[in-house]
Amino acid sequence: MLENKLGLTSSADLAREEERISKKKAMELFEKGILDNLPAGKFSALQVIHKYLFEDIYDYAGKIRTVNIAKGSFRFAPLIYLEAALENIDKMPQSNFDEIVEKYVEMNIAHPFREGNGRSTRIWLDHATITKVIRPLKQKSCKRVKKTDTTTLDDVCFCYFSVSRYSS
Ligand SMILES: Nc1ncnc2c1ncn2[C@@H]1O[C@H](COP(=O)(O)OP(=O)(O)OP(=O)(O)O)[C@@H](O)[C@H]1O
Ligand SMILES: [Mg+2]
Repeated sequence: MLENKLGLTSSADLAREEERISKKKAMELFEKGILDNLPAGKFSALQVIHKYLFEDIYDYAGKIRTVNIAKGSFRFAPLIYLEAALENIDKMPQSNFDEIVEKYVEMNIAHPFREGNGRSTRIWLDHATITKVIRPLKQKSCKRVKKTDTTTLDDVCFCYFSVSRYSS
């Protein structure tokens, strides 16, 4: 099992504590506005997210992995290409939902951290989508209908986001 800062030696205990702590931290990322000033779709933003989620658990929180990893029969980016892959992902376009999804897929292939890639990268995906697609859409709609009360627009945007994200 992975070395951890909690002094836990059973993988069941580590899995339980890791889930509890990272869920609490994930809520805080949104509620404390920590995501607000991060650059959408950049690896530096993902590093901040990963560090925040896991800094109480793992020494490697926010740090690029130093070993090759695989899941099932799939090998994630080999170490020798990892930094170049991350630089390329930073440069990928992100002006609509499809482009952001492509970046997410590439980031999953990169799998930059030793553990916790899924949880941190999903928050990174939400952040990029909200910043690059939903907010501009909302501003555009607000201008068009000259409305100051955006409650209904919030609902519309939320539906748009949910449908785009979860439909195949
Ligand atoms: N065989 C695979 N091929 C490609 N990607 C995979 C494969 N298996 C898992 N993944 C991706 O890797 C993520 C899990 O990676 P990792 O264990 O580093 O993250 P995690 O946050 O601990 O896990 P989880 O996403 O399950 O909460 C999954 O969410 C999925 O996106
Ligand atoms: Mg995992």
